Amino acid sequence: MKLWGGRFTKPTNELVDEYTASIRFDQKLAQFDIQGSLAHVDMLAKCKIIPENDAIKIAEGLKIVADKIKSGEAELTEANEDIHMNIEKLLIDEIGPVGGKLHTGRSRNDQVALDMRLYLREALVTISQLLVDVQQSLYNQAKQNLDTVLPGYTHLQRAQPVLFAHHMMAYVFMFQRDVERLADSFKRVNQSPLGAGALAGTSFPIDRHYVAEKLNFDGICENSLDAVSDRDFVVEFLSNASLVSMHLSRLCEELVQWSSAEFNFVELDDAFCTGSSMMPQKKNPDVAELVRGKTGRVYGHLIGMLTTLKGLPLAYNKDMQEDKEGMFDTVETLKGALALFAPMIETMDVKKENMYEAVAKDYSNATDLADYLVGKDLPFREAHAVVGQVVLHCINENKYLLDLSIEEFQQFSSLIETDIYDVLSPKAVVNARNVAGGTAKNRVEDQIAKAEQLFESSADWIEKHAKQIEAMSTHQ
Ligand code: ARG
Repeated sequence: MKLWGGRFTKPTNELVDEYTASIRFDQKLAQFDIQGSLAHVDMLAKCKIIPENDAIKIAEGLKIVADKIKSGEAELTEANEDIHMNIEKLLIDEIGPVGGKLHTGRSRNDQVALDMRLYLREALVTISQLLVDVQQSLYNQAKQNLDTVLPGYTHLQRAQPVLFAHHMMAYVFMFQRDVERLADSFKRVNQSPLGAGALAGTSFPIDRHYVAEKLNFDGICENSLDAVSDRDFVVEFLSNASLVSMHLSRLCEELVQWSSAEFNFVELDDAFCTGSSMMPQKKNPDVAELVRGKTGRVYGHLIGMLTTLKGLPLAYNKDMQEDKEGMFDTVETLKGALALFAPMIETMDVKKENMYEAVAKDYSNATDLADYLVGKDLPFREAHAVVGQVVLHCINENKYLLDLSIEEFQQFSSLIETDIYDVLSPKAVVNARNVAGGTAKNRVEDQIAKAEQLFESSADWIEKHAKQIEAMSTHQ
């Protein structure tokens, strides 16, 4: 007999059971469902909606069920549809009909919204920590490469030299925005929908704030219809996760390029590469490629969720059960990628000489020759034209700017003097970009100092919320 079977005269078609059940995937919510139920039953007794003794029995029963699910002893069935009804059924099997009092003043609609928030809340803290670990690995590479110069690119054409530290720090700040976005979204996740009932609230004198406090929420969802219909927090997470994935994917692309024989700028550690079953010489950057590839499924989940929600009338609709698999998969996908990324970056061998070679054998100091002439009061437009001529000459002669004799330089402009050789050296070119946020060494050191402050505030945020969540799960 189904928990809701009273109104029915026929059993459900087996295919319907199979099709509508969510237990296959929502069993991931088991521990959160039980956390929520423990807070709910405590509140029911406090508000004298059920006797204290019954609440104690239910709480004890829930803990036994939690252990049995954890150990794999409990049987979760499709006939019981989802994690909420499976747990209720297991509870009644454990402690008898009194277990049936747990669902007083509650619906699966507010219950599932609660579970999703509890799950995501924990995932946000874990993912934030993993992001900070990746930031830290990039920061460490930056600190070790404050004198490593490589070409900076636009249009994937060599443009101006930059410090490798500067390049690493660019990603540190990208991931910083991700960490901040997750922390900001946390505020909207951390609101309790419990007590909204099926859609309209409940006739029992429940205390929603008490439950919210017990579960360490910042507050309650203000409107019962919104509380059970809202999956904005899922969309927001998937959107933030899409940005994280996009950032990872851009870095992956650089790693794939840099580790090719054509670039030969870095070598990824053997531990993070794989071989070819056919070509014995191959060492493939599979992790970077796969992280790049998995961006597709994260974006897919975002579009999937947005599309599922589009046009849904208030309040709960069964369509919303589709909110889970994409969210779970996104959490696992991010966790998997980020956990690999930090050690992969940390152990990456940076081939400083090859990077330097690429800078030296290039015209990426041409802007500096123009700037030099501007310093001698030549209008920039004229300077640009002069340098264009110099570069053309070099290309024809198969030379670089620093290969030219002072006489050759002076054929193009008498303003050029012997100090030009210092001005055009890669280090000088880099250090000339001495503007806030620029690639000059002292400016990159400023970025590193700034990042240290940011890491500290992330660590505070993570510690505070990890403690709250930890306290809650040991409360039970
Ligand atoms: N398994 C359902 C879901 O994930 C739980 C809520 C079901 N509510 C209902 N009224 N059928 O969305």
